[in-house]
Amino acid sequence: MRLLNKDLRLQDITLMYLTVLVTVVVLLVASYQAPAVHSRPALAYHIPLDPSGQLELSWNISYPTQEVYLELKVKELHHGVLLGMSDRGEPTNADLVLLWDDGHKSYFGDAWSDNEGRVMLDTQQDYELLETHQSTEGFFLLFKRPFSTCDPHDYIIEEGTVHIIYAMLERPILSLHELNISRLQPGIQRVLLLRPDAPSPALPRDVRTLEVLAPDVIIPTQETTYWCHIYQLPPNMPKNHIVMYESVITPGNEAIVHHIEVFECSPQMDTVPQFSGSCDSKMKPRKLNYCRHVLAAWAMGAEPFYYPADAGLPLGGEGSSRFLRLEVHYHNPLLISGRSDSSGIRLWYTPSLRRFDAGIMELGLVYTPVMAIPPRQLSFQLTGYCTAKCTQTALPVGGVHIFASQLHTHLAGLEVRTVLVRGGKEVEVVQEDKHFSTHYQWNQMNYESGFVAVEPNYHLMRWIFKKYIYCPLCRFQGRESCSCPGTTVEEQFSSLSWDGFSGEVLNSLYLTSPISMHCNQSTAELFPVNWKGPQQINNLVGRSKHCRCHRKPEVCAVNE
Ligand SMILES: *[C@@H]1O[C@H](CO)[C@@H](O)[C@H](O)[C@H]1NC(C)=O
Ligand SMILES: *[C@@H]1O[C@H](CO)[C@@H](O)[C@H](O)[C@H]1NC(C)=O
Ligand SMILES: *[C@@H]1O[C@H](CO)[C@@H](O)[C@H](O)[C@H]1NC(C)=O
Repeated sequence: MRLLNKDLRLQDITLMYLTVLVTVVVLLVASYQAPAVHSRPALAYHIPLDPSGQLELSWNISYPTQEVYLELKVKELHHGVLLGMSDRGEPTNADLVLLWDDGHKSYFGDAWSDNEGRVMLDTQQDYELLETHQSTEGFFLLFKRPFSTCDPHDYIIEEGTVHIIYAMLERPILSLHELNISRLQPGIQRVLLLRPDAPSPALPRDVRTLEVLAPDVIIPTQETTYWCHIYQLPPNMPKNHIVMYESVITPGNEAIVHHIEVFECSPQMDTVPQFSGSCDSKMKPRKLNYCRHVLAAWAMGAEPFYYPADAGLPLGGEGSSRFLRLEVHYHNPLLISGRSDSSGIRLWYTPSLRRFDAGIMELGLVYTPVMAIPPRQLSFQLTGYCTAKCTQTALPVGGVHIFASQLHTHLAGLEVRTVLVRGGKEVEVVQEDKHFSTHYQWNQMNYESGFVAVEPNYHLMRWIFKKYIYCPLCRFQGRESCSCPGTTVEEQFSSLSWDGFSGEVLNSLYLTSPISMHCNQSTAELFPVNWKGPQQINNLVGRSKHCRCHRKPEVCAVNE
């Protein structure tokens, strides 16, 4: 008889609390009563974990107590389930929480894995089991954990991407020592666990909706597909403001639709041919490459996105295009065939224009060989600048308010932060992600308390940390363009021998050379800026966060 059958109740689970020694000193918590379950409201956020939809994670956040409540739904529980968090989704050096049985009893505990995959119980148990119940939908396990536990084997839950790992236990586990987590081959899901808990602004009464959906696509039987579809707005649509958008996912496909974007095409094109097919298709009309102005972006697990009450994103009207490009990323690693899909984005817009037009400002690095990363680096930091010369010219006199932000890198990005600088000091971290993944970069966020104000004489900087990529570079000349007569930049690059030291030399050259900046208008033309004078931002003083650990509730004090 299986122990973790559908009748498993909280009383039947041995909690690994206060388990100090590795020789399992268990505390049977028979008196721990399961609270009345089904009356409890659902947790605020949800995300499917595995591509077949067996596991689902729901959570909510309590900022006052600095805790996350997590609920795991398992459609069919066998001998247990494992959930974990690690820097980049690797099974080793992970913070784990496990429910397992040994054939007789069921156990719940906080554990960790070492760098060879051995699983050990934590001496300090920080995951607190709150409730279990079984319904027709599956088995539910509710537990909570502080953001930061002060246990060196635990992951610190911070703003930004969290790599979640998961695995089902298919046979009884007599002792955790017999587990090698690498052999379980846990799956990975990336989520934005911490989110602002500000209430969403109310939608105006005259709000209308427009759905930009995939036209009943048969999801290709391949792991990754980017589906492109051209959508036409009605002719002569006057200017409206988009005030909210949300995803529309075809029921049953929640675990396959990975992310969705809607772009507006360039208004310079009178017409864009109808197209519905793979974005990589050779048949794709070239004009689709000119549909790049982002109107909406959603990724798995994201909530509806609301604009602030006094701003909206223009849709329609003069100087805009009728043509929109929908792009849906299907992630189908199980190669499920014959599944049809009409997922997309629902835009909520109003004809009653709000006081401010929202806009999108892009910061970062231009594609140039003199900003390349040399080979064989464990990590390498690149910095892009938008200096005060540019913000003074490009921003309106009173400055702008940043209310949301999104980070983006290509394959090698590992860590990204955007900061606001004044007088050589970081005054605000606009957004930071220490566990950034190129596979999950649509993590928009709204500010809980007001906005970040950018006054015209601020610098904005974007830092990107990347790992090794093979990249072209000609001899660094401190300028944006480089001429390498007779040889390609790849050849120049490979003619040098690269190691940590030469990487550092190149890095210091990057840091001390004059900045070359594109301060561009949305028409892709340069702002007329007078570039004379030094452009280097040296000796930047960072804001340091010193976290102190207290006993519960965990509080992180920020010393500036
Ligand atoms: C989160 O969920 C738990 C369990 O349902 C509940 O007790 C708690 O009040 C919720 N917290 C917030 C901030 O919603
Ligand atoms: C666990 O399994 C992995 C992959 O099979 C192996 O490399 C590792 O050495 C194993 N660890 C232990 C402690 O046996
Ligand atoms: C900025 O504008 C110039 C001139 O039109 C163009 O060559 C350059 O590619 C633009 N830079 C970016 C980052 O778009």
